[in-house]
Amino acid sequence: MLVLGISGSLRADSYNRKLLLEGAAQLPDDVDFELFDGLKAVEPYDEDDDGDATPPGAASLRAAIAGADAILVATPEYNSSIPGQLKNAVDWASRPVNGGAMKGKPAAVIGASQGAFGAVWSQAELRKTLAAAGARVVEGDVALGHAHEQFDEAGRLTDADAGGQLAEVVASLVASARESEALRAAQAAAR
Ligand SMILES: Cc1cc2nc3c(=O)[nH]c(=O)nc-3n(C[C@H](O)[C@H](O)[C@H](O)COP(=O)(O)O)c2cc1C
Repeated sequence: MLVLGISGSLRADSYNRKLLLEGAAQLPDDVDFELFDGLKAVEPYDEDDDGDATPPGAASLRAAIAGADAILVATPEYNSSIPGQLKNAVDWASRPVNGGAMKGKPAAVIGASQGAFGAVWSQAELRKTLAAAGARVVEGDVALGHAHEQFDEAGRLTDADAGGQLAEVVASLVASARESEALRAAQAAAR
């Protein structure tokens, strides 16, 4: 089983990327993790470009999502919403309608901000837009406020409460992915 991690921040020292890696460290031993590193290269969505030849950045995003059993997305909050490049990626992954990479994909949302509220609004917006794109978004979030004070020098999360919330969200995501896997196996056996 493979979980794909996507950080909505393009920043080299992103707290959201650190939070994502902390989530990866909580995955069971039999689950692999891959960090998607091509978000910045995803072209701006243009329906005219979304034909037979998908542009390379968007194609690599779609392939990464399609090849994963579940996705874990960490989002910053930009002006009370999700960063534009992250929304752009969800738009690419949502198409074609009913056949997009996101269709039926178990997904979980976490987030960090340097403000007090831990990106709660952007997480709510991301959950909404992922669900609209067809993902099966699991319950739960991790709202890591004052993110600049929550990691040690090695980049590890120091807040035990947030660590506990993260463990719950990651466990829900893995459970959802295992359910999907079992359903696919049952459908294949019935054929
Ligand atoms: C354009 C912009 C808008 C922002 N708007 C918000 C906001 O609405 N709420 C908030 O808590 N932080 C806001 N911030 C601060 C981010 O929480 C902070 O930059 C955070 O570290 C971004 O996540 P990252 O560390 O993963 O890059 C904003 C930052 C930028 C660059």
